[in-house]
Amino acid sequence: MTKEENSLEHIAIIMDGNGRWATKRGLPRSMGHKKGAEVVKEIVRAAGEVGVKFLTLYAFSTENWQRSKDEVDTLMGLLRQYLKSDLQELQENNVRIKFIGESEMLDADIVSAMRKLEIDTAQNDALTLCIALSYGSRQEIVNAVKKTAALVKKGDISVNDIDIKMFSDMLYTKSIPDPDLLIRTSGEQRISNYLLWQLAYTELYFTKTLWPDFNKDELVAIIKDYKTRERRYGKV
Ligand code: FPP
Repeated sequence: MTKEENSLEHIAIIMDGNGRWATKRGLPRSMGHKKGAEVVKEIVRAAGEVGVKFLTLYAFSTENWQRSKDEVDTLMGLLRQYLKSDLQELQENNVRIKFIGESEMLDADIVSAMRKLEIDTAQNDALTLCIALSYGSRQEIVNAVKKTAALVKKGDISVNDIDIKMFSDMLYTKSIPDPDLLIRTSGEQRISNYLLWQLAYTELYFTKTLWPDFNKDELVAIIKDYKTRERRYGKV
């Protein structure tokens, strides 16, 4: 009997290497981000085609606010463009969009465009595209602890009601299953404050490819590798 393949419902990606891609070509870093945004579109399409139900992309971390004003403006500009231009394609491909992160730090026009896109695509159910924006996992966990403590203080729950399922529901990713596979591009082998709770049993894949060079063929090859791995979840 052949071994059963791993199922694959959720892929998370750390899209790294835009800056190095541009620098290698003597271009400003902004050009790397621009090409990176094009690759986002290709990979969202590809994820739908290979049939995963959830794709979570790390678009901007809370630490990224410390980059130069120019670079932050470039990234926010690309995001504005994406928010404005992509509704039709998302609808055609039956993609629901969801944002996770600290929206208080973002400009008001971006936040309202994000909320509108979430509402406009809420009925789509082929793929959920989750974009981590102004996101930091430690802060997400601290916020969840605060929410839980407030419920205990109010008397809505008791300390003994706190368990893994209940706590998971306090995170931004409530109702999104944990990722099966995490891909990080650019050769760095770190998690960088991304989905720390949710990645507990996720398979990790690090590729040297810089994000602007990433494509559907490589995604398919990585999925093939993942399918043959043995997932034990701590059991023998
Ligand atoms: C990491 O490369 C990438 C980012 C900080 C931003 C990711 C953003 C995009 C791919 C484009 C915008 C996204 C959307 C959803 C429209 P880096 O700049 O850290 O590269 P480096 O490590 O080579 O300097």
